[in-house]
Amino acid sequence: MDKLIITGGAPIDGEVWASGAKNSALPILAATLLTADRITIHNLPHLQDITTSLELLGRMGIDCVVGDKMSVELGGKVNDCRAPYELVKKMRASILVLGPLLAHYGSADVSLPGGCAIGSRPVDLHLRGLEAMGAEIEVENGYVRARAPQGLHGAHFMMDVVTVTGTENLLMAAALAKGTTILENAAREPEIVDLAECLIAMGANIKGHGTGTITVEGVERLHGCEYTVMPDRIEVGTFLVAAAAARGRVKVRNTRADTLEAVLVKLEEAGATLEVTESTITLDMHGKRPRAVSLRTAPYPAFPTDMQAQFVAMNAVAEGTSRVVETIFENRFMHVQELSRMGADIALEGNTALIKGVESLSGAPVMATDLRASASLVIAAIAAQGETVVDRIYHIDRGYECIEEKLQSMGVKIRRVAG
Ligand code: UD1
Repeated sequence: MDKLIITGGAPIDGEVWASGAKNSALPILAATLLTADRITIHNLPHLQDITTSLELLGRMGIDCVVGDKMSVELGGKVNDCRAPYELVKKMRASILVLGPLLAHYGSADVSLPGGCAIGSRPVDLHLRGLEAMGAEIEVENGYVRARAPQGLHGAHFMMDVVTVTGTENLLMAAALAKGTTILENAAREPEIVDLAECLIAMGANIKGHGTGTITVEGVERLHGCEYTVMPDRIEVGTFLVAAAAARGRVKVRNTRADTLEAVLVKLEEAGATLEVTESTITLDMHGKRPRAVSLRTAPYPAFPTDMQAQFVAMNAVAEGTSRVVETIFENRFMHVQELSRMGADIALEGNTALIKGVESLSGAPVMATDLRASASLVIAAIAAQGETVVDRIYHIDRGYECIEEKLQSMGVKIRRVAG
């Protein structure tokens, strides 16, 4: 298993490019199942989850041609409406094929994603929403078997929990359903807006995306299009926090600051100077230690759960004490134990981490446990004294493209060794 070796304490000053957003690219790839026409998607991140998605689509019969500059062209008819366990277990976002398959082909057999390291992560709302649209659904032998022989119809559906992939599944299904669908308490994440814009480019009739109520007038067919995935706001945020924790400076290119407001506000509170243009964000700590910032995760536009672990790492070396409350996932503090092994002073009380900033952390062998937890260990290692070896980095490779090359361009001393 590959490991990352990071020597902390190097001056952080440089420029880095952000990739396309994984969490936009995954639903957009699934959306291509809604038409047999050819669709070209640009700015895909080069990540394992994207490869898994393309493999899944390929097995269903879709023709995928990977072009240069992170583009892919897809098209053709599905001849196998199944997402098998061996692929779904690699990536729970495979559940995103359920809505499009059902809406376009009237049939979908998708393995249940099962448990996940950061909590139970049910998909009940995806299923209930599709049932409200006329689908017959059974869960047996670990598979969701969904049928809609007469097609789906519009529905007025209220989600009692805000769910990102749930909203995406229902949005895609509604695009081809007969009549009007109204999704209430919909997720407002920028990735939902990106998916909706791609569906609109395919001919869908959608209004209200980016608000809590999305209205979809179903159309009879969707067509091909060309679409560019938005920049990855979580990757951008991770680079900014890394520079802040290390008292350094970084300019991130290919960004959209409007998708990162809650994070930027917290970085300013930590003492960072920010300079924002249409496509870049520059953060400068002017050599100062960050101030501790308290925060609470919640659905967009509030502070994203996918940035919580990185802020815990920064707070671990910040001046002062902070409280970080996780409200989205029940088991998303697995980085805390590993950070403590590097000398962090963090107490966990239920869904709250109480962090007393220490002057410096010390390098240690640590283990990545999930995607964002591993980003937090890398940030801690960059700010620490001495060498840190991060094991099980396949987690980080799921969400960060060329992590070592990108961090090197910021001045981080990092290398990968095959284990
Ligand atoms: C997506 C993101 C993930 C991010 C998360 C929250 C993708 C591929 N992944 O995950 O990076 O951390 O949003 O911003 O976009 N829930 C239910 N019933 C459901 C669905 C969800 O109770 O049917 C609950 C979950 O247990 C959780 C909360 O809703 O507590 C939010 O989960 P959800 O937004 O669905 O997360 P994902 O879409 O899986």
